[in-house]
Order: sequence, then structure tokens, then C-alpha cells
Amino acid sequence: MAMLKPISFTISSKRTGRRNPDDPSQGGLFKLVCNSYSCNKSNLPSSEASVGALRLVHEFNPKIPLEEAVTPPSSWYTDPSFLELELDRVFYRGWQAVGVTEQIKNPHDFFTGRLGSIEFVICRDGNGKLHAFHNVCRHHASLLVSGSGQRSCFVCPYHGWTYALNGVLLKATRISGLKNFAINEFGLIPLKVTTWGPFVLINLDKEIQPQQEADSKMVENEWLGSCSDILSTNGVDSSLSYVCRREYIIECNWKVFCDNYLDGGYHVPYAHKDLASGLKLESYSTTILEKASIQQCESCVEGGDDFDRLGSKALYAFIYPNFMINRYGPWMDTNLVLPLGYRKCQVIFDYFLESSLKDLKMGKKIGGGHEASGLYYLDGGGSLVALQTSLTPLQ
Ligand code: FES
Repeated sequence: MAMLKPISFTISSKRTGRRNPDDPSQGGLFKLVCNSYSCNKSNLPSSEASVGALRLVHEFNPKIPLEEAVTPPSSWYTDPSFLELELDRVFYRGWQAVGVTEQIKNPHDFFTGRLGSIEFVICRDGNGKLHAFHNVCRHHASLLVSGSGQRSCFVCPYHGWTYALNGVLLKATRISGLKNFAINEFGLIPLKVTTWGPFVLINLDKEIQPQQEADSKMVENEWLGSCSDILSTNGVDSSLSYVCRREYIIECNWKVFCDNYLDGGYHVPYAHKDLASGLKLESYSTTILEKASIQQCESCVEGGDDFDRLGSKALYAFIYPNFMINRYGPWMDTNLVLPLGYRKCQVIFDYFLESSLKDLKMGKKIGGGHEASGLYYLDGGGSLVALQTSLTPLQ
């Protein structure tokens, strides 16, 4: 995994009273390392790029009547400075879905991720408390930990500094004899984290104090607005059992995936003919809310099997800016679209199933859910059935 571009600077004498950064005779063994976003402006668009990207925004008039509307200019998808602006104004502000609670179900569970140029690690400490940190060692800015799993502590792969899961620096190697090194000043830099239903959210906003406990009602309102009631009453909640994850890298701007999802079923009769035959497309509706867009379409399938992925009641919710929740029959899947560059993105699909059905049928899931050609389960008659990943109407 690529290292975050960090900024490191020597401990200033003003801050600690211990070291004069202008004095070359004072060695640079220790560097206070901060994440680039939290400690400098390098993530923000340079003034020239910023002006250019803002000009692209202002060239578009979102208020013209629908009949006279045109699509946003292609530069929004092809200009690298526009992605920088999006990261600053969209992804580094407000709550962002980054994972599922299944990933941090037990004490000592952790997972890592990247949002824009921010590397983060989310973990549950030994007491079960949830934490999120910049995934950057406070010594020389090495990426601290990769992947996911269980750890009792995080040991930096570069020089072995060791951090507790609550972020406290437990051990800095080979510092005996060094004066004025305050180990308690070098804990991991925290991020704001919370959960909603089965989802894990972080907030990179610099104005928020990570140490404060997030008020769940406030988070719900900020992330979902009035959409939260619709999701809750349609079975988007933490009672569902987690099934599996699939991930894809797509060579396109992240908004292309979102646009496809949000085209109101425009592409379905042509791109998904088989699927369209199972839908009452004349019933297709889109409801725009302040934080979300809800699409619904009735199914032609009468009294389908419990595993019917269309289901009679289906709801497809797009949560600004990049998270999609598809709830249909006993299933739920989510699509998280992460920009990896202005012309590359990662899409993460997570699958959930109503608990009673998972116990009954998915318990015999073959191959841990990651067969090369797809996902499989044994149906009630013992037959191997492929769980297609492209059956939701909006994909
Ligand atoms: S970078 Fe030196 S211990 Fe982490």
C-alpha cells in the first residue's frame, strides 16, 4: 500500500522548549509527524488549481429549468484539479461511510482504508471502545498498519514504535538516554468515528474534536437527514447478517458510477434486458431528499422465493456523496465508491441477508464467498446457486 504523503517537521523549541530547529547541531532523530490534511494545506487545491476548479463549478448553472438543463461539463470528470476540489469540499467534510460494523465487531478488530490522500485505521480497543486514527506513525510517517484483522497493538514496520489500540504510544525503540522525549505527546492522531446501523462512518472535518463522543442523533441527521426514517422503516438496520464483500477497480471517474446509479433506471431496459423483464418500469420513481435520493420500482415477480433478489419491496438509496444502499427482499447490498484518482475509482460491494435466512442457507455458503466466478449458496434443495452481483436494477 502506498505511503501517505506526510509532512514532518522537527519539534519546535517554541512548542517544547527543547530543541532549536534552526540549530543543525541538534540531530533530527525525532520528528513530530502529522497527517498532511490535519497539519498543512497540501491537500487543498493550490491557489491556481483551486481557482481553475472553482471556475469550472461556476460555469455551471444548477438553477436553470429542467427542460433547459444540460449535463455538467466533461471537465468535471477529466480535470485533475476538480478532484482536488471535490476532496476538499466533499470528502473531507461531513460524515463518510468507510466500512461495516462486522469489520470491528470484537475487541482488537481493526481495518484500514484511504479516503483521498488520508490513510486511516479504525479499531476497537480491548474495552470495546471504537477509535479511528490517521494511519501514520508519529516518528517518520511510515504507514503504520495495513489490511484488517486483529491486533493487540500496532507496531510500526519501520522502526518498531508501538501503539496501543487507543492510540497511546506505548514504546519508542532505542530512546533510552534521550532527554526531554515525552512519550505521551506522540500518540496517534485521532479522527472522529461512529456507527449508524451496520455502517462505520468517519469525519475528517478539522473543526470537529475527535475526542468528543459523537451524538448518534446528530450524526444521523448530518449524514442522512430525513432519509434515516425511510431507511429504518425499510429494514436498513443492524439486525441483518453480514455475508461477504467484493471489490473492483474501475478505470473511470468516481462520479461515472454514481451517475449510472442515479439515472433513474434510464439504462435498465437496454443495459439489463433480463432484469427489466422482471420489473414494472412504469412504476419507477425517484424521490430527492436533502441528503439522499431514493429510487423504487415494483417487481413483476409474484410471491418469489425468499432468495429472490428483486423482492416485492425494493428500495435503492443514494447517500451523498458516494454511498448506495440497495434493500430488496431479504437482501441488502451496499456500494461504496472511492476516488483513486480523477480517472480511477474503487467500488466496494458489501452483502447482507436477513439473519434467519443466513442461518438457514448461507451457513453452507461455498468457498467463504469468494469463488472465482462468483458467490454461491446452497438452496433449500441442496443445489448450488450462484449469487449474481449485478442484479440490482441500478448497477
Ligand atoms: S516511522 Fe519510525 S517507528 Fe514508525
